[in-house]
Amino acid sequence: FSVFANDNELWEKSTLNQVMKRGVLRVGMEAGYMPFEIKNKQGEIIGFDVDIAKLMAKEMGVKLELVNTAWDGIIPALLTKKFDIIMSGMTITPQRNLQINFADPVVVVGQTILIRKELAGEVDSYRDLNDPKYTIATKLGVTADFATKKYMPKAKLKLFETEPEAAMEVINGKADAFVYDLPYCAIFYAQHKKQLAFLDEPFTYEPLAWAVRKGDPDFINWLNNFLAQIKGDGRYDMIYKKWFES
Ligand code: ARG
Repeated sequence: FSVFANDNELWEKSTLNQVMKRGVLRVGMEAGYMPFEIKNKQGEIIGFDVDIAKLMAKEMGVKLELVNTAWDGIIPALLTKKFDIIMSGMTITPQRNLQINFADPVVVVGQTILIRKELAGEVDSYRDLNDPKYTIATKLGVTADFATKKYMPKAKLKLFETEPEAAMEVINGKADAFVYDLPYCAIFYAQHKKQLAFLDEPFTYEPLAWAVRKGDPDFINWLNNFLAQIKGDGRYDMIYKKWFES
């Protein structure tokens, strides 16, 4: 029996304790989803998640290491301890939540659609795209992939490894529509307004959150209180404005 509250096995094993001992927070993300994580011209990963990760490491008093990881291997990499946390614009889904735990939602988004400009008027919502005459492009293994299969099962689906490859299919006339999270579509639309129309009413509900390994209440507790703190004291708003409103 010990009087020290932290002298217990759970805390010993906590990722948070490991991070403190190591002096480094390792964050897994897949650079390619603007404005959450993208590579700049110098090849550095920047974005909304990166700025919050920097703040997180600063509050822990440790260094930050970003681990760029392909999307299809990102959950396995977390489970095999390649990094401590996923901060990668990941949607909480019941299926993912069977494998990993999520902190509270950081931001809520939903699926939206970019269509070839010529289809404006003919296609007004995802319902109109549920037809074998349309080809939809998106990224493999993301919620856009799942939503397209669920809500537009009759359309042809082309899946790509990365967001830009999928979105460019519509620009190049090889697909009629691109389905993806609202923030990405909004930025891509702003860059290609001449060729596209934007169906910007989200047709899914998607809370995005940080993911950690199961069985670690100490880490989740720290993360949720950190998030509540930065949401309350204006630091979250500053970072949000920087990446979402400029
Ligand atoms: N929110 C979507 C999902 O969870 C897409 C996330 C993709 N993230 C990335 N960094 N590429 O499936």
